[in-house]
Amino acid sequence: MEISSILFVALLLVMLVVFLLELMTCKPPRAGPKLFNHCPPSYPIIGCLLSFYKNRRRLLDWYTEMLSQSPTSTILVQRLGARRTIITANPKNVEYMLKTNFKNYPKGKPFTDILGDFLGSGIFNVDGELWWKQRKLASHEFSTNSLRDYAMNALRKEVKNELLPALELVAEDGQTVDLQDLLKRLTFNLICKVSLGIDPCSLDLSLPNSPLAKAFDISSEICARRGAATLLISWKIKRWLGVGSERNLREAVQEIHTTIGRAIHEKIKKMDEKTRITSTNRLDLLSRLISAGYDEEIIRDMAISFIVAGRDTTSAAMTWLFWLLSCHPDIEQGLLREIELVAKGNELDYESLSELRLLDACLYESMRLYPPVAWDSKHAISDDSLPDGTLVKSGDRVTYFPYGMGRMEALWGKDPLEFKPSRWLSEAYLETSRELKKVSPFKFPIFQAGPRDCIGKQMAFVQMKYVVASILRRFDIKPVDEGRPVFVPMLTAHMAGGFQVSVHKRV
Ligand code: HEM
Repeated sequence: MEISSILFVALLLVMLVVFLLELMTCKPPRAGPKLFNHCPPSYPIIGCLLSFYKNRRRLLDWYTEMLSQSPTSTILVQRLGARRTIITANPKNVEYMLKTNFKNYPKGKPFTDILGDFLGSGIFNVDGELWWKQRKLASHEFSTNSLRDYAMNALRKEVKNELLPALELVAEDGQTVDLQDLLKRLTFNLICKVSLGIDPCSLDLSLPNSPLAKAFDISSEICARRGAATLLISWKIKRWLGVGSERNLREAVQEIHTTIGRAIHEKIKKMDEKTRITSTNRLDLLSRLISAGYDEEIIRDMAISFIVAGRDTTSAAMTWLFWLLSCHPDIEQGLLREIELVAKGNELDYESLSELRLLDACLYESMRLYPPVAWDSKHAISDDSLPDGTLVKSGDRVTYFPYGMGRMEALWGKDPLEFKPSRWLSEAYLETSRELKKVSPFKFPIFQAGPRDCIGKQMAFVQMKYVVASILRRFDIKPVDEGRPVFVPMLTAHMAGGFQVSVHKRV
């Protein structure tokens, strides 16, 4: 029996005793402070542990249900063995925590504890001065035309030489393919190319995935499970003993450190003193960080953060979009018309991509329903109160919840569950301006918002639009299974069991 199971059984016994005592004294369950009308039923000592455990495999929908019933779109979840957590789908609260009082809501130690073994001191996992310095450097590099051109070039090559031939082969053989896996390999290569200057994965799915990609998968999954554990102490005990998933995590992180360490050393060797100083050869992020004189450990951790941020996010968004389009052939036809109108039979380039506004709308709409980052938490430094009156105590976890926000009638009208890209198009779209509606990033915090918003948003859109348009123009993608796929949040969301499709060449 696993340690976590033993601990859980012991805890169940304690809970049972408390529960019986509770029944004997006939006290009604406490519903939390008055402000929170829709907290899960809570009991002394254990809080809402019982209902949390019952809903642990459907947390996203459980939270969404409670949030849509709450008059303030905010709930409080308190349970034994975990930190007091406030979850909000209220745009005013989101703006307050991500921008207005940004300083009071860092990621905090509980977050960095969970991800520290994997992400070290990379931008994704640090606060304060350490974060600010990396943010400044990365924002500067991401705004340069040279990085943009380098990324666009890598994208063009990878799609032309790897992705399209792989799909061609599947179409010719009349086979099926896991499109999610294929897109994950593609985006892993692209982000490794931008961050490290290497592309480690083969898009030939009959070959095993690269050890580096596997190590990232294992590390992300185990860290996500740490964060979602019913009892937080269980992973700490396993880590202390060096057993089970914690041992696998240690080995995976070792693989990542070794491979990236090697890439750094090879890069340093290639860059002689002269190029380091004049930086004529600064293409990928690694070369830029080496040129800027950062030490190896920071460079390694920063590269890890970028790979985590930039890989599964875009592949997840594209996978869900392909599934949604397969359910809405009329919208797919509209997209095809737009792509041909803009491309005029040529290859798409950086400038023409920006004219694909319906494709933008489809991507926004797909991410509204299936956000690549389903939830994200900060930890309050001091006592505070949110704009809707919710009281925050120092140390509370405060979570903004893009998945739930995308499904709120209060935010999106009567049909929030419908895939309707037209909700993103302005009135003037069909006439002249072809503009998208302006939507507050605090109502739609898919890329977070405020000072810590996603640095890679623009690069992500270029990548997703280029890949989706390149596939759609040439191939008709049909899911093998008819059912609704299952959305799994993890660190980055994905489709449970992959996305098996058949591929047919368009005539
Ligand atoms: C659809 C694609 C993407 C989505 C939905 C997305 C979403 C997000 C979100 C929600 C955050 C905040 C996470 C947090 O603070 O915990 C974030 C941060 C970040 N993203 Fe993205 N991202 C995407 C693509 C990318 C790409 C392609 C890159 C890099 C090339 C990237 C680089 C970053 C970085 C470096 C941060 C950290 C910013 C900071 O802490 O200051 N992202 N992203």
